[in-house]
Amino acid sequence: MIGRGRESPRKTRGRADRAFGPTSASLEASRRSLLRWYRRHRRPLPWRKTSDPYRIWVSEVLLQQTPVTTALRYYRSFLRRFPTLSLLARAPLRDVLKTWEGAGYYARARLMRSAARVLLRKASGHWPRQSDQLRTLPGFGPYMSCSLAALAFGERVVALDTNGRRVLSRLFLIRDPLTSRHTEVRLRDLGTALLGRASPRDFNEALMELGQRICRPNQPRCSECPLARTCLARQELPDPALLPARRVRPRRPHVRASVAIIPWRGRVLVAPRPPSGLLGGLYEFPGGKVQPGESPEEAVVREVREEVGVAPACPPHLLGRLEHDYSHFHVSLHVFALPVRDARRASGVRRRWRWVTGEELRRLPLPAATRKMWPWVTEVLSAPPRPSPPATCPG
Ligand code: ADE
Repeated sequence: MIGRGRESPRKTRGRADRAFGPTSASLEASRRSLLRWYRRHRRPLPWRKTSDPYRIWVSEVLLQQTPVTTALRYYRSFLRRFPTLSLLARAPLRDVLKTWEGAGYYARARLMRSAARVLLRKASGHWPRQSDQLRTLPGFGPYMSCSLAALAFGERVVALDTNGRRVLSRLFLIRDPLTSRHTEVRLRDLGTALLGRASPRDFNEALMELGQRICRPNQPRCSECPLARTCLARQELPDPALLPARRVRPRRPHVRASVAIIPWRGRVLVAPRPPSGLLGGLYEFPGGKVQPGESPEEAVVREVREEVGVAPACPPHLLGRLEHDYSHFHVSLHVFALPVRDARRASGVRRRWRWVTGEELRRLPLPAATRKMWPWVTEVLSAPPRPSPPATCPG
């Protein structure tokens, strides 16, 4: 619980009382210092110059998983392509994913389009202004609801992303791991007390800015920090970077997979991935994981038979191997050229396979790993491997 600052001002000024939480004097000192620093040092980011909730929302969705410099690029191109909520709601999913291509975490783009459609259908495109109403929209978790409510509508709430949590855990010396519900509530209470009567927009932006530029995860720049005088981690710990308590991340699993670029009459075969889940809605070549005991060649032949329902016309020809990191695993991809028999019959049991030209492929939304295969696609389209004579070509 947050103290009311009744202790002697001399003893507690600019400090927090361990037993009762921060005093109102220390909260006031921190708030003023933070806002003064923000007014002097804030970056002129485009989403800080608009009050349009749609634009602020686009920026917040991007910034959830993307560094500011990359987010800036996507923010501009996304708004050029979808300047209004209703244009986003009416756009085909494929176009939205294409504009998002390379930004990763594609569920964000799918959910944005869904939320835009809900807003258009149920509220004629009008935004709810309260965080608890925003929370009911697709893709709106606690952070997104509070950030949009605070930044666009001035609701008196604190949006805690990783940066904000780190700043508060150091300022108030929260030693518990930040994953527990109890700590989450405590951080939120402390954040709200620190916000006080300040502008919710400036305060939230200031907290994020400080987390990104000064109170960094490693080697925080305490000598430049406006909160240095009141920061308990600085006063109590040999290194403030010891907070927040780190969870030990398991090593990323390593997956081996095989992929087939199947040529036929100047086209290659692709299909969209299922609409939800990893890379949902993006287009890819046939392929899949190499099973234990299987070679990459065997895997690609099996996958093509299972997924596409056709048999190879000759053994797979290895074009090369590439490495790619996803958020939760690392993959080594063996990429093969694999002409098939009776390409006309390529249908697939569950998937919508399409034969596309290089130009059509370029316009489809593709995962980053598939885009890395571009030189091999060009190679296969310009000189497809020739099936060997039937005698040496097992079916
Ligand atoms: N990270 C999340 N939201 C942000 C914002 N509005 N400005 C800068 N960084 C952010």
